[in-house]
Order: sequence, then C-alpha cells, then structure tokens
Amino acid sequence: MRPSSYPEQEVSTINWQAFKLILPYLFEYKKRIAFAMLCLIFTKIASVYLPFILKDIVDTLDANSIDKQSSALIIVPLGLVAAYGMVRLSIVVFAEIRDTLFGRVTERAIRRIGLKVFRHLHSLDLDFHLNRQTGGLSRDIDRGTTGINFLMRFMVFNIVPTLLEIVMVVTILFVKYGIWFAVVTLSSIITYIAYSIFATELRTRYVRAANKADSSSNTRAIDSLLNYETVKYFTNEEFEAKAYDEQLSTWEQAKIKNRLSLFALNGGQALIIAVAMTAMLALAANEVAAGAMTLGDFVLINAFMMQLFMPLNFLGFVYREIKGSLANIENLFGLLAKTPKVQDVAGAVALSLTEQGDSTRSQMDNQASIVFDNIRFAYNAKRPIIKSISFNVNAGEKVAVVGQSGSGKSTLVKLLFRFYDVDSGAIKINQQDISQVSQQSLRTHIGIVPQDTVLFNDSLFNNVQYGCPTASKEEVLKAIELAHLSEFIASLPEGLETVVGERGLKLSGGEKQRVAIARTILKNPQILVFDEATSSLDSHSEQAILTAINEVAKSRTSLVIAHRLSTIIDSDNIIVMSHGEIVEQGNHQQLLALEGQYSKMWQLQQS
Ligand SMILES: Nc1ncnc2c1ncn2[C@@H]1O[C@H](COP(=O)(O)OP(=O)(O)OP(=O)(O)O)[C@@H](O)[C@H]1O
Ligand SMILES: [Mg+2]
Repeated sequence: MRPSSYPEQEVSTINWQAFKLILPYLFEYKKRIAFAMLCLIFTKIASVYLPFILKDIVDTLDANSIDKQSSALIIVPLGLVAAYGMVRLSIVVFAEIRDTLFGRVTERAIRRIGLKVFRHLHSLDLDFHLNRQTGGLSRDIDRGTTGINFLMRFMVFNIVPTLLEIVMVVTILFVKYGIWFAVVTLSSIITYIAYSIFATELRTRYVRAANKADSSSNTRAIDSLLNYETVKYFTNEEFEAKAYDEQLSTWEQAKIKNRLSLFALNGGQALIIAVAMTAMLALAANEVAAGAMTLGDFVLINAFMMQLFMPLNFLGFVYREIKGSLANIENLFGLLAKTPKVQDVAGAVALSLTEQGDSTRSQMDNQASIVFDNIRFAYNAKRPIIKSISFNVNAGEKVAVVGQSGSGKSTLVKLLFRFYDVDSGAIKINQQDISQVSQQSLRTHIGIVPQDTVLFNDSLFNNVQYGCPTASKEEVLKAIELAHLSEFIASLPEGLETVVGERGLKLSGGEKQRVAIARTILKNPQILVFDEATSSLDSHSEQAILTAINEVAKSRTSLVIAHRLSTIIDSDNIIVMSHGEIVEQGNHQQLLALEGQYSKMWQLQQS
C-alpha cells in the first residue's frame, strides 16, 4: 500500500512512475501536442540562430570601423539589425503559441484526473473518511493537481527545450570552433546538472519537513475552526492558539533550514556558471588575439553561453519542483490506488424489491422484508460491537431497536446501509444478501434519518431537494409540509432560501432532524430507518413528527431506533439490545410482562 501522505524515507531518484501515470491523460489532444512541439522546435531553432545574426552585425560593424570610407557597407548591418528584431519577435510568438496550445492539454488532464479522484473518494468506505483529516485530503488533491500543472509546464516549456538547445549549441560549437569549446561547454553543463541534483537531493529532507509542517498546521487550523463552538464552550481559544502556534513554529524552523540549504545550492550553481563563462571567454579571447576568430565569434560564444545558462539557472529550481510535483502527483494517484473496503461483488445485480412474476403490482406494494441473520461485526478486531444478532423485519412492519447508549444500534443501521461489511452472518432484503447486490441499488431503497444530520451549506430548499434532485418544487413543498417544517420556514425572513450554515449549524437540532425527515420523504424509499429521529424534539413536536413518520412509514418496512420508549410502543416488534446482543424481544405488552430490562427502562422513563 502506498503511504497516504509524504513518505518519510528519502527518495533518491526522480520517480518517473508518476509521469507515466499522467501520460494517458495527456493524449486526449494529440494534434495540439504535435503543434505545440513543432512550435517548440521553431522557437529553439530561432533562438540558436539569433547569436549568428549578432555575430554578423558585430563583424560588419568591425569591418566598418576598419574601413570607415566604405559607405555601402553601412546598409548591411541595418538589414541584419532588422532581422535580429524579427527573429527575437518570432521566438516570443512561437513560444506564446506553444504555451496556449499546451495549456489546454494540461487543463483538460487536470480536470479529468480531479474528477476521477473526487469520484474515487466518494467510492471509498466510511472508515477511510473517518480515519482521514478532510483538510489534509483536500491539500493532497490541491498539491497533486498543482503538481501536474507544474510538471507539464516545466517539462514542455523548460526541460525539453533546454535539452534541445544544449544539443544544438554544443554541436555548433564543435563544428565551428573545434573540440575544446564543445568540451568546456558540455562538461560545465554536466557539472552544473550533477551539482544541482546532488545539492537538491541533500535538501529534500528540509523541503519535505517544511511541507509536512505546512500540512499539519493547516489541518490543525481547519479542525480547530470546524470546532468553533466547542472551543467557545470551553473557552479554549488560548489553548487552540498555542497548539496552532506550535505547529507554525515547527513550520518556521523547517522553512529556515529550507532557505539556508537553498542558499548553498544557488551559491554553488553561480560558481559553476562563473567558472564556465570565464573559461569560455578566455578561450575565445585567446583565439581572437591569435587572429583565428573574429570579434563577432567572441560575441557569438558569449551569447550562446548566456543563452544556455539562463534556462539552466532555472534548472535547479525546476528539478526540485518537478521532483516535488512528482511526489505530489504520486500521492494523488496513491489516493486512486486505495481500494474501498466495501465493494460490489463482480457482476453484482440490482436489489430487486419486486417479487418474480409480480411486475404488475404497484410500487407501493413492493414491500421489503429484512433479515439480520446471525451477524457479527467489529470496527476493530479487538473490540466486537455486534455479537451474533438475528431478527426479522417483515414486509410493512415497524420494528424498533432500543438499548443503552453504545450498544450498537446505529452500527446496525450502518451495516444495513452497507457502510461496512459484516464479519460473519448476513443481512438479507427480500431474501437477497445485501453483500451480493450493488451498493447503489441497495441504497436507493433505504431512507435514513440519521442520528445527527449534517446539512450542506446551502438553502433549506436545496437541502430538502437533495433527497431527490429531480423533484419538482411542489413535491419538495409537500415533503416539507409532511415533515412539519412549513411553520418554521414561514417564520424565516428568507423562507426557503435561508442558508443553513456550514454543516447546518444555523438550525436547531430538531429543525435539522425535520429537514432530514423531509429529505427522506422526498426520496420515497421502500425501507425507512429512523435513528433517534425525534431525539431533539420536545414532546409536542415529537408527537407531530411521529404522526408524520407513521404516515410515511405506513405500508413500508421501517426500522426505528429510539431512546424514548413512548415513541415506539406501537411497533410490531421491539428488539432490546445490550452490549451488541439481543437480550429481549417482543411487542410492548409482551416485554412489559417479561418484567426484564425493557420493563425497567419503561418504568424509569414513566416516572
Ligand atoms: N467508526 C467507528 N470506529 C470504532 N468504533 C466505533 C465506530 N463507530 C462506533 N463505534 C463504537 O461502537 C459502539 C456502538 O456504537 P453505536 O453508534 O452503534 O451505538 P448506539 O447504540 O447507536 O449508541 P447511541 O444510543 O449512543 O447512539 C460504540 O461503543 C462506539 O464507540
Ligand atoms: Mg446511535
């Protein structure tokens, strides 16, 4: 398995794997890429040609200065100067065309990959998301896509052109001026690249530490801000600020080391360039003095060197960044490599709620029965949560699950919804094992009003409509009516358009629950699950909601989890759970007659 965040160990070589990973996404626009490459070659030919024009200008001027009498020669440099300007312009124009053409390719690739990762994250199991800091996750994605952008920009716009230019220049130097010029140029470039890579490797540690500190201080800040209310309840602002500052100071330290190592890298590079330039100019000056070269040649060589080292000066930075980008991209693809723990079996069919040969029955009659068949489950192997639970919910029945906090009631719901797979036993809906049908089909048939509803930071209307995005306004309003939300909404100045705040925090617990109920009504599923659906309501609203729930649940199969027993006395069957096991079951009267746990709970709540 891939590490989920920055690997701690040093990576000694560039990881080309990541490059291979994004390659398929680039080939969507083959023609564009071909054109961009053509422009790239034009640009480089033009820029290698430029010093030659410069040389001709200098040589002509030089000849002019010797022979001031000859006025005919003055026209020639003007033409050359104009050519110089034209070539300069064409370099820029071709480079711009190349950038424009290639930018599109990169952006499309980023879009494709971004979407793929997003979809994949939604396909991963709940466990992954519970174990992962959302802040860190979004930064991983952010860094990954920025990495792709960077990699593409610098591969295409810097590395490849520079290599092309080096080959052309060294060849020209060799052919025109002999082996020594080529040797000095090539060896200085190789030294430069080798030093850059070596020094960059050495400082990778600091870069990584800085990245890590950056990520964790960010996660810390987001977590703290998400818990705004909790921070206030305990007046822990100072504590939070201190913890954040501790993270920031780690980041600061890491950055200082990072900067110092950068200084060493840049200094070394500058030294190599200075030595190389001096050597080349000394060689050239020598030749000019000996009369083997013209002044123009001297200028040409100087221009070549400047032109070569300018992008190379960038190369150290680019190498670093590309390496970082590759690591970030790999990280991003690492997310894609994560396999969900809960997966559809090969060839999973849709859950069918219509009995065979019974297709004439109306939708309302497609009732579902649920069987929990001797299931066991643990979030962590060391601590079993559900120990051998078996019970049935017959089609159209209302079954309640009660029991003390932590006994595993909500866990049962998560298992039914297949957020997790059971460790042994099976949950069956209409005789179909839910682990064998597609998750999509399973979930469309189940409506859940969860214990704690989280809402999108959007309008009330949109939050309700989320239950069925294709529902009409009338349908949404009807669901709102049924969930007894209309009165509350009418009291809001902005009515249905009221934005509920992040995670729905601007609504009261009871209001949020009613939004959740309205959503579920709109979803209109065959199986309804209420996990403490009325726990945040006062007795008056509770009664109203219960009436609504009963209306909706009529002729549907429902599973109701409740603390307040008065809300479930009409259930067909009541399951009493304790520590992951069923201790009693029966209807209200039977359980009272048992005089066991249920009857104790009942008496406690009555008094
Ligand atoms: N994702 C998880 N990872 C590990 N343990 C978990 C996880 N979710 C729940 N648990 C544990 O499983 C046990 C059962 O939790 P569950 O939410 O099912 O209880 P519950 O019966 O619904 O309680 P309540 O009435 O308070 O809602 C609890 O002890 C809880 O700490
Ligand atoms: Mg619960």
